[in-house]
Amino acid sequence: MRFFRRTRLLFSATFITGLLLLAGALLVGFDIDEEGRVRPASNGVLAQGIENSTDECVVCHVDQTPGIVNQFGESDHFSNNVSCSDCHLVEEGYAGSVQHPNEEFYVLPLSSTAQCAECHREQVAQFNLSRHALPSYVAYAGTDPLTEDQLAMYQSIPERGGIDSRNRNSLHAMEGEAVTRFACETCHNVGRPNPDGSIGNCTACHIRHEFSLEQVRKPETCNACHIGPDHPQWEIYSESGHGISYLTGGDDWNWDAEPGNVTTVDFPAPTCATCHMSGFGLSATTHDVGDRLTWYLASAISSRRPAWEENRVRMQQVCLACHSNNFVDDFYDAGDALVDSINTWVMLSDWMMQPLKDNGLLTAQAFDEPIDFTYFNIWHHWGRTAKFGSWMQGADYVQWHGAYEILHDLAILREEVDAKLEEAGLEPLDLPDNFPSIDAARDVVGSQSE
Ligand code: HEC
Ligand code: HEC
Ligand code: HEC
Ligand code: HEC
Ligand code: HEC
Ligand code: HEC
Ligand code: HEC
Ligand code: HEC
Repeated sequence: MRFFRRTRLLFSATFITGLLLLAGALLVGFDIDEEGRVRPASNGVLAQGIENSTDECVVCHVDQTPGIVNQFGESDHFSNNVSCSDCHLVEEGYAGSVQHPNEEFYVLPLSSTAQCAECHREQVAQFNLSRHALPSYVAYAGTDPLTEDQLAMYQSIPERGGIDSRNRNSLHAMEGEAVTRFACETCHNVGRPNPDGSIGNCTACHIRHEFSLEQVRKPETCNACHIGPDHPQWEIYSESGHGISYLTGGDDWNWDAEPGNVTTVDFPAPTCATCHMSGFGLSATTHDVGDRLTWYLASAISSRRPAWEENRVRMQQVCLACHSNNFVDDFYDAGDALVDSINTWVMLSDWMMQPLKDNGLLTAQAFDEPIDFTYFNIWHHWGRTAKFGSWMQGADYVQWHGAYEILHDLAILREEVDAKLEEAGLEPLDLPDNFPSIDAARDVVGSQSE
């Protein structure tokens, strides 16, 4: 009895508190949905001008989604009379659209590149030609899910190739959808096809709904994806002279400078965007991030790109705004020589694995025995890291996360290969005494220069 009385008391107390909360919420203007979740109806700090807007979407969404309206109010879109409708309102039946809650019209809940293309045709065309578009998606999904048109578009990208996929896609299959939607896909969906057939997601870099130049020019934007053991561009940049200039003095830079011809007055040192995208010096703004690259650095064994000579000129024109001709030429010669050394070590690792392949001593399944990881890490982590580190000035990544790790894993690879050969009654690898030095690697596989 006592128990029931207590629970009844508890129940009434909860009920009354609930009622009070509800009344309170209604009084101060909170919004409660069918599931009992409460949302603040207005947070009061509206961007200048937006409170006078007569746009029906804005008028209602100020209460429904105040965060979005606030960000939109800060944007150049709002001050240039671009409206919510321009990006979201579509015909009934438009692929990916839904009927707007309580209204007759249809909206795209996630606006697509097709809407941006109405006004920013050039940026979209450049983006579509880059590895941020379909190649990013194909890197984990393969080409099977592409429509005929998308396949043709993918095949028309001159720089889509160059990087052999060496088992990487098998990680996607091994880990399964529940994991990869938070992993591979979070980064690689920058180039995923949308329901309406357009490609990619501009908001992978341009955070909605402000679409601010300052935000997208800052290197933190790129570090959403260009980070970690296999592509540590953010870490490398942070320890370079350029990154240190940004981290210690960037507050004073002219982040909102008009795009097209940004100068050294605006940016005394470069960010990722300056070197790879901004109109700077004689190089025009581009959304094709491959447009200034010489090498396929992400490759196991790097080769030069189809249009590498023109690309290199475009990158060097950026450097030349701040550095001398000789400085830039010396730097490029040194970078090319480093690529040659890393290529040589990776070829040595291929040479070491060859007898296992020839004698059927490896399992068919990728990543099921330690040797698969050792072999993979040599090029996918350490080789890449050393190359990126040299080209973007991160000494620690060239040395301790790069060359040193290569030597370490080559020594382990030798033990792992020899163990398998001996188990099969075969001779161990015949390697020179100074293995795994670069001289030994050159002796075994020859020089790779030019
Ligand atoms: C009378 C109020 C009202 C008007 C007018 C209005 N909206 Fe909405 N809108 C809402 C509400 C309420 C939601 C649902 C919010 C939620 O689910 O949390 C919503 C949701 C949305 C969504 C998300 C839909 C989804 O399924 O995720 C979009 C996009 C949107 N509105 C765009 C617009 C555009 C564009 C206009 C003008 C053409 C507009 N809205 C006009 C109240 C309004
Ligand atoms: C310049 C184009 C553009 C304008 C203008 C714009 N949006 Fe969006 N909006 C987008 C994009 C792009 C996305 C989806 C981003 C993604 O895929 O991650 C989005 C997402 C949304 C979402 C769903 C995501 C969420 O966070 O709930 C809502 C709701 C929305 N917008 C409402 C609005 C409203 C209301 C306005 C006007 C006040 C507006 N948008 C103006 C481009 C725009
Ligand atoms: C209806 C036309 C229209 C649509 C649709 C549109 N924009 Fe814009 N956008 C503009 C205009 C106009 C400006 C201002 C141009 C200027 O300042 O020179 C602008 C400016 C920008 C800027 C530069 C902001 C700045 O501070 O200068 C970015 C970034 C941008 N848009 C991205 C997008 C993206 C991404 C989409 C799609 C999600 C999109 N826009 C959709 C018309 C549009
Ligand atoms: C943190 C973001 C991130 C995650 C997670 C991620 N990648 Fe990547 N991936 C990148 C970036 C950035 C590059 C580009 C490296 C470069 O060019 O320096 C890349 C490059 C690649 C490449 C080489 C490019 C090509 O077109 O062949 C493949 C293949 C690839 N990733 C597959 C995957 C798979 C499969 C997964 C999941 C098992 C995955 N990635 C997870 C960001 C990511
Ligand atoms: C890899 C990140 C990234 C992606 C993805 C991206 N942008 Fe940009 N965008 C930038 C950067 C960085 C700038 C600033 C360039 C500069 O410094 O002038 C910029 C500038 C812009 C501008 C204003 C500059 C100008 O030349 O007028 C527009 C408009 C724009 N982007 C539209 C888009 C559209 C549309 C998409 C999707 C197809 C897109 N962006 C995808 C990084 C990106
Ligand atoms: C949402 C994730 C994401 C963001 C954010 C992002 N990238 Fe990427 N980026 C990728 C992926 C994935 C690849 C590899 C694509 C491939 O090769 O298949 C890539 C490749 C590249 C490449 C090599 C292109 C080539 O042709 O090999 C450059 C350069 C690059 N990104 C620069 C940038 C810069 C600069 C920024 C910031 C302004 C940026 N990225 C932001 C995911 C991202
Ligand atoms: C000083 C200019 C500069 C800055 C700053 C810079 N990069 Fe680079 N980046 C380069 C050069 C040069 C290369 C090598 C180009 C080549 O192949 O010739 C490169 C290579 C790359 C690659 C490798 C592409 C491939 O072939 O696999 C990626 C990805 C990349 N940078 C992204 C970034 C990101 C992200 C940032 C900021 C965190 C950044 N870069 C900062 C100049 C720069
Ligand atoms: C906007 C100006 C600017 C641009 C563009 C620029 N740099 Fe720099 N660079 C600097 C500054 C500033 C430093 C830091 C100098 C110091 O450490 O005293 C620096 C340092 C360097 C260093 C280290 C030099 C040393 O003595 O330690 C290298 C290497 C370098 N830059 C290469 C490049 C390359 C390659 C490019 C083009 C891909 C480039 N930079 C583009 C301004 C620039």
